[in-house]
Amino acid sequence: MTTASETAFVHILVDRRGPAGIITINRPRVLNALSHETLQEISSAFDELVADPEVRAIIVTGSGDRAFAAGADIAELQSLATAQEGFEHSKSSHQLLFKMQDAPKPVIMAVNGYALGGGCELALGGDIILASDNARFGQPEVNLGIIPGFGGTQRLPRLVGRTRALEMIFTGDQIKAEEAYRIGLVNRVVPADQLLAVAEEMAARIARKAPLAIAMAKRAVYEGLERSPREGNELEMRYFGDAVATDDRKEGTAAFLEKREPVWQGK
Ligand code: COA
Repeated sequence: MTTASETAFVHILVDRRGPAGIITINRPRVLNALSHETLQEISSAFDELVADPEVRAIIVTGSGDRAFAAGADIAELQSLATAQEGFEHSKSSHQLLFKMQDAPKPVIMAVNGYALGGGCELALGGDIILASDNARFGQPEVNLGIIPGFGGTQRLPRLVGRTRALEMIFTGDQIKAEEAYRIGLVNRVVPADQLLAVAEEMAARIARKAPLAIAMAKRAVYEGLERSPREGNELEMRYFGDAVATDDRKEGTAAFLEKREPVWQGK
């Protein structure tokens, strides 16, 4: 069943289908360029979907068949004058990606065409990145006299390695979906007409797992990546302990031993 969001948005669409909350960037005339207002709307919709107990995973995609998002809105970039304005612009975008990273629910990016500049960086902010076979990834900021400002200099090298990231950032070249898969930028490449169905199927599979365990696993991975391996493993011990203490863990192990499906309470 599709249920519209309670908030009226101008630049995005929000749907709920089964356990998936779906945010669709809806500015196809400008290839879903990420204006400030568009990012604000994504952020508000994300809050709504995180707060909705029926939603177990959040999918982000673009409308039309050409673009996920062709980057920051270049008309808006044109109006930035000072270093301080540039810093604030970058900071507000970063806050959205931190919000996605800190959220207890998985974020699946369904990249359905161009993911350039801020569009590529938005995709990199997802936990799982699915690409349609016509997707194109690139960091073309140097063509405009700027650098990636939405996490590209940090998340991209951590995902694909320093040399590949620097090549993308220095040349601004686009890479195709298959190459993105080869270098580990995306989890999977799927035919364009199946992209959303695959994303929803993944959301449904995750929805059958214990919600607190999913949230703790996500936190352990991201917090661990920011620490030394020893500190990360110590963190894992603590989250493992927290998971063992949940009612869902008792239910999960009992259900296995009783050869039945678990019923999760999220407690
Ligand atoms: N910001 C604002 N508008 C954008 C945009 C962006 N990032 N990307 C595309 N558009 C607009 C174009 O200006 C054009 O508008 P118009 O029809 O009013 O002229 C429309 O979207 C279609 O784009 P167009 O360039 O005509 O399509 P194309 O098929 O020739 O090229 C791209 C597609 C993606 C290669 C090209 O649009 C592009 O290079 N976009 C900018 C990518 C970029 O540098 N992003 C990083 C920003 S930091």
